Amino acid sequence: MEKLFIPVIAGTTRPKRRSFNVAKLIHEIAGKLPEVESQLLDPNDFNMPFDGNDEENKDPKYSEISAKADAFFLVLPEYNHGYPGTLKRFMDSELKNYVHKPVAFAGVSNGPWAGVRAIEAFVPSAREMGLAVTFTDVNFPFVSKLFDEEGKLLDEAYIPRIEKAYKELIWMATTLKWGRQNLEQNT
Ligand SMILES: Cc1cc2nc3c(=O)[nH]c(=O)nc-3n(C[C@H](O)[C@H](O)[C@H](O)COP(=O)(O)O)c2cc1C
Repeated sequence: MEKLFIPVIAGTTRPKRRSFNVAKLIHEIAGKLPEVESQLLDPNDFNMPFDGNDEENKDPKYSEISAKADAFFLVLPEYNHGYPGTLKRFMDSELKNYVHKPVAFAGVSNGPWAGVRAIEAFVPSAREMGLAVTFTDVNFPFVSKLFDEEGKLLDEAYIPRIEKAYKELIWMATTLKWGRQNLEQNT
């Protein structure tokens, strides 16, 4: 069976960012799943200096990746009870490439709420993008204590949680891919 292509999108760009460890971990776990082909997307590697989704404001690299994607896994750290502007600007650069595709979320924070507020804030935008949200978020509280200096995960309990999120995302991606390929699109 053809693999599902599921990019993992990191939410921030700052040099000392910690949520990138989460993005790397989620990408790494995809490597163990026979149904999935993954790619880790770092917004630092894309050129999106201006807002919007006009052709001149897109990065063709991301246009190609998002068109090919069967699903997305977003890492959403909490910034002042919301999600980082970088992630929103990145996602806003495309629109039709999201329609009828599922998205899973990993929430991250340095406090106890584990990015829950960031995820909940992003859901209405995901819906407007045509994305179908899964209900199996993975939440990473106290992120500065979850990884060592080399970025190694210090609590293995997160691994089955990520695998569970992938299981649901794969189900949604398989179902919606069938729908996109076999049913008339209403959009
Ligand atoms: C600008 C900024 C705002 C933040 N606001 C919150 C917050 O409202 N609640 C919280 O629990 N953590 C907050 N944090 C902590 C972050 O969730 C945590 O540091 C996380 O690692 C940020 O992602 P990053 O390391 O990839 O930048 C904030 C961090 C930054 C840099």
